[in-house]
Amino acid sequence: MVSTTLAENPLREGLRTWRTPQPGTVVVFGGTGDLAQRKIIPALYDLSVRGLLPARFAVIGTSRRPESDAGYREQMLAAVEKNSRLGLNHEIWDSFAASLFYQQADPSDANGYAELCTKLAEVQEQAATGPNKMFYLAVPPAAFFEIAEGLGQAGLARQDEGWSRIVIEKPFGYDTVSSEQLNAHISRHFAEEQIYRIDHYLGKETVQNILVFRFANGIFEPLWNNRYIDYVELSVAETLGVESRGAYYEGAGALRDIVQNHLLQVLSLVAMEAPASFDAETIRDEKVKVLRSLRRIAPDEIGSRVVRAQYAEGDVGGRRVPGYRQEDGVAPDSMTETSVAIKASIDNWRWAGTPFFIRTGKRMARRVTEVAIHFKPAPHIPFAGMDNDDLPPNLLAMRIQPDEGITLRVGSKVPSPTLQVRPVNLQFLYDSSFLVDPPEAYETLLLDAMLGDHTLFPRADEVQYAWRFVDSIRESWRGSGLMDSYPAGTWGPVEADGLMLDGRLWREP
Ligand SMILES: NC(=O)c1ccc[n+]([C@@H]2O[C@H](COP(=O)([O-])OP(=O)(O)OC[C@H]3O[C@@H](n4cnc5c(N)ncnc54)[C@H](OP(=O)(O)O)[C@@H]3O)[C@@H](O)[C@H]2O)c1
Repeated sequence: MVSTTLAENPLREGLRTWRTPQPGTVVVFGGTGDLAQRKIIPALYDLSVRGLLPARFAVIGTSRRPESDAGYREQMLAAVEKNSRLGLNHEIWDSFAASLFYQQADPSDANGYAELCTKLAEVQEQAATGPNKMFYLAVPPAAFFEIAEGLGQAGLARQDEGWSRIVIEKPFGYDTVSSEQLNAHISRHFAEEQIYRIDHYLGKETVQNILVFRFANGIFEPLWNNRYIDYVELSVAETLGVESRGAYYEGAGALRDIVQNHLLQVLSLVAMEAPASFDAETIRDEKVKVLRSLRRIAPDEIGSRVVRAQYAEGDVGGRRVPGYRQEDGVAPDSMTETSVAIKASIDNWRWAGTPFFIRTGKRMARRVTEVAIHFKPAPHIPFAGMDNDDLPPNLLAMRIQPDEGITLRVGSKVPSPTLQVRPVNLQFLYDSSFLVDPPEAYETLLLDAMLGDHTLFPRADEVQYAWRFVDSIRESWRGSGLMDSYPAGTWGPVEADGLMLDGRLWREP
């Protein structure tokens, strides 16, 4: 078999508009942290392997600890060796490393920005990158405020000569008010068109394919509504527990960690109207309309529409694991949910009466992210002796990860002299159809940010409407004492089954 690498596959690369970004410098705050080492620097390196970075390009890593350019290159070499998708190529690394620099700077100290400005000017001169710059904030969220302010005060947000962009990672606040405050703060110096909010789910090929699948194929859109769709399921299941991040997770929980961002972003792509064009603002306008139409959960509905739970001791992959409340950094009487299931409603003409069931959890039976569209049963089964109970309705499962692909379940005649019908799957798998690994989400998102394409970045109003929905749940939980549990390694609490009525069942993919 001929093996094809992504870099040399003209079909795959041809699917996107391969503009190369303009020359520029990326400054990574938190350049020595986990995110930088696992994702950002390896993704930039992989972009250079794919030939997608401009020839005149540089990266400055910055954090509070002292480090030299040479020391930083050595650290990042180890990070790339470990985390690059395309693997280390020494020749490409040498040229990439020559554009990699380090500057020690404490974001709480104004002098730090002066030193950063000096370094930036030196690098711009040395690497001939010109005035374009992008600041990636891979630091704890509390530091976003001072860095945005510091950059603004230092004149680094100005765009008189080249562009200046700021990239922030979720979480974008921890509720509606704090997200508005964060936004107001960043907006003092950076206009919305300069801000790129990373929700890495949107960088996944399979998530982008939701739009392509819906709007490049004429056959599904006429069915994509409450007349033909009984319900929609959106799931993010993880097998991992909180690992060493118990203390962090105590302040987050499944609702804020996964639903507010990843799941509501996917929901908005599944439920949005067809955009008139594929430009960023038109798509984001349509997504916002969905999030605005998402019905808030009233306090008297919380028991019938939302189930929250924590994992208890159980078996995962043949290993006994502790319950959430026994994890390091977790309070023995913690009320932080590790799983949440929601029956959501979208109040518009397309979706009235078609519930969206959202479910996420840690320590579940399997790691899987999926969108499942459950169609209504055929109105009449003409085959003698058979009714709807014998024939499961059509199902379209869009697998985001792993085993990325799309499956359509249809009824088919069993080869036999009698008439028997059985469900079979029509399946498309990325692996076997394209024979290439999809790019890492961070490669796509970093490239798009450098190109100035906002399509895959949530806008401020999207984030805020998502928070309003999530806050309605959190407010209803307050003081309610509601908290169920599920053994680790299962599909979540049995109470979640109570959200589904009328023969509907959660999938266990
Ligand atoms: N890691 C991930 O996979 C991941 C995924 C999604 C989102 N995020 C988000 O990305 C950000 C960084 O996460 P991380 O996992 O990389 O954290 P981390 O491993 O703790 O690294 C934090 C980095 O920021 C610097 N830093 C720490 N405190 C700082 C402060 N007060 N002001 C300025 N710099 C500070 C650190 O270096 P010094 O201490 O030397 O300054 C380090 O370089 C967080 O907002 C996190 O929520 C991370």
